[in-house]
Amino acid sequence: MDIIKVKDHEELNSVAAKIVIEKVKKNPNATIGFATGGTPLGTYKKMIEDHRQNKTSYRNIRSFNLDEYVGLTPENPNSYRFYMEKNLFSHIDIQKSNIHFPDGTKIDLERECTNYETSIKRFGGIDLQILGIGRNGHIGFNEPGTPFDSQTHIVELTPSTRQANARYFMSINDVPTHALTMGIATILKSKEILLLAFGEEKTEAIHRLMTGDIDEKFPASVLQKHPKVTIVADSKALSEVIASA
Ligand code: F6R
Repeated sequence: MDIIKVKDHEELNSVAAKIVIEKVKKNPNATIGFATGGTPLGTYKKMIEDHRQNKTSYRNIRSFNLDEYVGLTPENPNSYRFYMEKNLFSHIDIQKSNIHFPDGTKIDLERECTNYETSIKRFGGIDLQILGIGRNGHIGFNEPGTPFDSQTHIVELTPSTRQANARYFMSINDVPTHALTMGIATILKSKEILLLAFGEEKTEAIHRLMTGDIDEKFPASVLQKHPKVTIVADSKALSEVIASA
């Protein structure tokens, strides 16, 4: 695992954006896995700035997002598709037909999950997967206890995850009860992983990810098995790792 310690959120955004931009410049046909949530927002802003200033092109990249709520259409402001359009895709030159999401509005969700796996494979797998991390070690919507061999699947969201995500909705009752997510095995198959973490609320999670037992009870611990993971984190998120080194 490579650790890049940054001094603040601003630096995290620049460093993470640079990694993505370099990847796209090196391979203009790269397949990138995107995450939503608060952590990568600034990274996406930096990518937009760079696209405007330096004309880095995303025309031929393919995107696969980690997850999507069940029942929310792309027009719903709380859907992850909407988030990606608003915060990145509508500001860069990615082609609409190259954008992929698990579609949580499909009647046959099981089939949708299988189709999502198939399309990731069809494009040769994910070259670079961007991840955030939940305080309980979740990656994507893979909550503690998710089997390490899981593929894209339907999850019932835990009360704590629904509570954490309620800040984006009018009320907790509006937060969907289910989501579709890439599985742990799907994420692990990515050729390279870029995990971003910021602030003291992630300190414990980063410590367990890097030094804890590899255990399904803490999904992100599986990343210890991946050959190419880069963690970009600030000193607060890394404080326990540094203290125990
Ligand atoms: C987002 C996702 C989640 C988040 C995680 C951290 O697509 O799959 O696993 O990465 O919940 O969220 P933030 O960045 O808001 O702390």
